[in-house]
Amino acid sequence: MQAGPKALSERTTEEVEAAALATKLADEMLAADAFIFSVPLYNYAVSQHAKAWIDLLVTEPRFTVKVPSPISKRPAYLISARGGAYGPGMPKEGWDHVTPWLRRIFEDNWGLDLQLIDVELTLADVNPAMASLRDLAAFNLKQAHAAAKQAGEQLAARFTKSLAAEPGQA
Ligand SMILES: Cc1cc2nc3c(=O)[nH]c(=O)nc-3n(C[C@H](O)[C@H](O)[C@H](O)COP(=O)(O)O)c2cc1C
Repeated sequence: MQAGPKALSERTTEEVEAAALATKLADEMLAADAFIFSVPLYNYAVSQHAKAWIDLLVTEPRFTVKVPSPISKRPAYLISARGGAYGPGMPKEGWDHVTPWLRRIFEDNWGLDLQLIDVELTLADVNPAMASLRDLAAFNLKQAHAAAKQAGEQLAARFTKSLAAEPGQA
């Protein structure tokens, strides 16, 4: 059985290309001071795109679970958009498998300072069966926009403060 990554000389062209993409993704993450993850709920789980991105990134030596997270404590926002509603008391409470799983990755594995912004009932305006939920959807969207604005202001304040604290900065 293979104990670790294959030696470079033994890799196929596809494996070399995949490793190069993982390196690019890891470099992008390391270059960011903060993160905004906007992730949809698809069939009660993360989209294949988000899953593939994470699956590839964690193969990169700097992002494996075997080493301390290189992006620990950086601010991050998870904007989770879903057509329905999954909060307490809803018929499908507990069916949202995006938020709990991404919290394991973003908070527990990567140590990010994570804030959640949920956008629910996004299908109410286009799905006639959800017509009675349109006012609630509009209220929800307004709340999500307010939460996003507040998060942006907090982030700006945080960086302004840390820049001001750096020697040589005004
Ligand atoms: C393939 C697919 C599966 C979906 N599955 C769900 C679902 O299980 N639950 C839900 O509430 N919404 C579901 N939706 C709706 C999306 O979560 C909703 O449109 C959300 O706003 C996603 O953002 P987007 O419109 O930018 O893709 C699904 C949408 C698609 C395209």
